[in-house]
Amino acid sequence: MNSLKSSAIAYSNIALVKYWGRHPRLAHLNIPLNDSVSMTKEGMGKIKLQSHTTIEFSSRYKSDSGSLNGKKMGEKELARMRLVVDPLREAAGVPDAFRLASQNDFPTAAGLASSAAGFAALARAAADALQLDYSLGLLSSMARLGSGSAARSLHGGLVWWHAGHSHESSYAEQLCGPNDFPLRAVVAVVNPDAKKVSSLDGHSAAASSPFQKMQVKESLRHAKRMRVAIAEKDFPAVGQLAEQNALNMHAVMMTANPSLLYWEPGTLKVMHAVRSLREKGAETYFTIDAGPNVHCLCRPRDQLKLDRALQVAGIRFRIPVRPAKDSYIARTHLF
Ligand code: PMV
Repeated sequence: MNSLKSSAIAYSNIALVKYWGRHPRLAHLNIPLNDSVSMTKEGMGKIKLQSHTTIEFSSRYKSDSGSLNGKKMGEKELARMRLVVDPLREAAGVPDAFRLASQNDFPTAAGLASSAAGFAALARAAADALQLDYSLGLLSSMARLGSGSAARSLHGGLVWWHAGHSHESSYAEQLCGPNDFPLRAVVAVVNPDAKKVSSLDGHSAAASSPFQKMQVKESLRHAKRMRVAIAEKDFPAVGQLAEQNALNMHAVMMTANPSLLYWEPGTLKVMHAVRSLREKGAETYFTIDAGPNVHCLCRPRDQLKLDRALQVAGIRFRIPVRPAKDSYIARTHLF
């Protein structure tokens, strides 16, 4: 029998209109409360912001096993992998256990969407190994079962995730390819350590904020306006919407019970640096996911200036990024 083994690479993504909080009855499927929009991002330097995952199914394996960045996965981590792999294994009618290895080339669990890249690569590699000919849209639904935002990392460029109301109707589609919108960013890494509260726990607490309903309503409005701004290649509108949307989400995080305060002193420093640059005429905007690190959005012509300004502000670790390509099947295996 042929070896059921495959590897895939997927890139991380940064939400321009955020997903924060899950549908109360469909939380187990990571069905969000609102549509969201993101940029799948590729690092332009040594760090590519990618996850490389290899999976093999074989009767040689007595039980499922895996490693993340060289460290053996525990039962809890494996159970999360199975959320994505089991429905695929079932669809293919393959009873074998798996071995998997996943390697990120960037800090894991630090608000840089390592789980998005990881689960997108896992869905892509597992479907390929099991010889399931699934579209990227269908794979995006499968990746969502591991981490909601992973749905958006199957596609490159700028991506829309339809919230939907069921497993089938909650999927991501590409709005425009990586070269269709001249968007760049510099990621200011304020703290590369793993965050203390995972986004999974954060989503569960979101409903306790008095502002959540308003934030969901606003996000739906932001997503619609973002779609138009992207179609019209209107960078200032994209930037303004992204910054406003991120601040709304963090207001919900801060006012939830338990309260989540992901910002650190360096986070505020970057936010001010971005605004001061904007006052000086360089159009740049910030957005922040569930962590202290800041994604500073700009046009290609301002990227170097922005990078320098962040260096002056004392941020030592910066990652210039551009829209990434689609996830893809890789020729090299990790084992
Ligand atoms: O997919 P999760 O559970 O890691 O949640 C992602 C949440 C944010 O990154 C804060 C927002 C988003 O839409 O990606």
